[in-house]
Amino acid sequence: MSKEILNITDCRTGRPYEIPIEHETIKAMDLRQIKINGDFGMMAYDPGFTNTASCKSKITFIDGEKGILRYRGYPIEQLAEKSNYLETAYLVLFGELPTKKQYEEWVYHVTHHTFVHENVKKFMDGFQYDAHPMGILVSTVAALSTFYPEAKKVDDPEIRLHQIHRLIGKMPTLAAYSYRHKMGFPFNLPDNDLSYTGNFLNLLFKMSEPKYEVNPVLEKALDVLFILHADHEQNCSANAMRSIGSSNADPYVATAGAAAALYGPLHGGANEAVLRMLAEIGDVKKVPEYIKRVKAGDFRLMGFGHRVYKNYDPRAKIIKQMADEVFEVTGRNPLLDIALELERIALEDDFFVSRKLYPNVDFYSGLIYQAIGFPTDIFVVLFAIPRTSGWLAQWMEFLDGPDRKIARPRQIYLGEPTRDYVDLDKRK
Ligand code: ACO
Repeated sequence: MSKEILNITDCRTGRPYEIPIEHETIKAMDLRQIKINGDFGMMAYDPGFTNTASCKSKITFIDGEKGILRYRGYPIEQLAEKSNYLETAYLVLFGELPTKKQYEEWVYHVTHHTFVHENVKKFMDGFQYDAHPMGILVSTVAALSTFYPEAKKVDDPEIRLHQIHRLIGKMPTLAAYSYRHKMGFPFNLPDNDLSYTGNFLNLLFKMSEPKYEVNPVLEKALDVLFILHADHEQNCSANAMRSIGSSNADPYVATAGAAAALYGPLHGGANEAVLRMLAEIGDVKKVPEYIKRVKAGDFRLMGFGHRVYKNYDPRAKIIKQMADEVFEVTGRNPLLDIALELERIALEDDFFVSRKLYPNVDFYSGLIYQAIGFPTDIFVVLFAIPRTSGWLAQWMEFLDGPDRKIARPRQIYLGEPTRDYVDLDKRK
């Protein structure tokens, strides 16, 4: 077998270097030995981390060319069909599917951490009536840090587990309250008899009825959507979670930071943008004209393209299949026809084919959320709930890993060289 070595010759000096290869990767620090006259040494430049592994991970596997997604080795299709969100969250967090006893304990603890302190409700009340629910969620999750100061002990396994129960348990409550606040509705209490997604629907939609009746089709659909969104390896928000966690910040502020990263329209905000786009198009007949403008570079086709998937996003496939079951209960979303036509034309058009632009998870999820009755500005909040398990898994893996170092990238400084300060009255 050939040696796993990369030979580099620095043409500036003629010096050869042997750089070890592991997992088809070289260590950026191994480049630092490549120097001229004792300078700082060679760095790798990679804005947006397009070809830089920031960690070694055992959580999620993606093959973007083949359209494969697995959590801890289990194909997403099997989990979507056979598992439920809380079981999948356990798998993502702790590495294995739980035994019956572990599962029951896990569900018990998460279910018994769904209530929030009454003071949380008070400061949620302080937001403007039209505040974006994600803005409320990000701020409120960060504020939980002040309620649980022991969370700072990030290396204590028991304390850590307690915060995980709290975060997974309270996320749906906070998300629902951010919506109820917007609607001007009173906050509902969690119902511990219901499933994770059943309780979430109760928190959102219960009005004066004594017991909220959960529609099993919508409960299941939401649960599958939560499974599909549980983790997605080193995306923008997971990277934010690890980066913030690297300073030993507590999991509440780290999760709030990750949620803030998710908020952007190029990440979790995309399904909201898809719905706005479909509404703006308004009619199937206008799709070709819209595609023309996308190709002219006027704007992007939202819900299309992905940094990693250069094939159909496997999550989008599952959601598309599920849409019909949901629409049978809720009635067909009229925007679906526009989405199908957009997809049909784009998948035949060389502009999209040559750039490997396919529908991503956000292309169809918004249509389902809208049919269930969610307003568009809560879509990104719906993403944050299940992704909390992924963020926490990434955070724990980072803290327990051998490469635990504060995140601190280098830069290439291209600014002014040293110069002397000029007094205000002497400046031109
Ligand atoms: N519509 C039209 N053109 C696109 C789109 C799109 N949605 N996405 C990428 N392109 C084009 C770019 O203009 C570029 O073309 P060029 O080579 O002629 O300049 C080429 O495809 C490559 O695009 P990049 O921006 O370099 O691709 P990158 O991997 O950096 O971006 C991203 C990925 C941000 C997801 C991008 O595809 C995009 O903006 N999509 C729309 C927003 C979206 O749906 N985001 C959700 C992602 S999934 C998630 O976060 C859960």
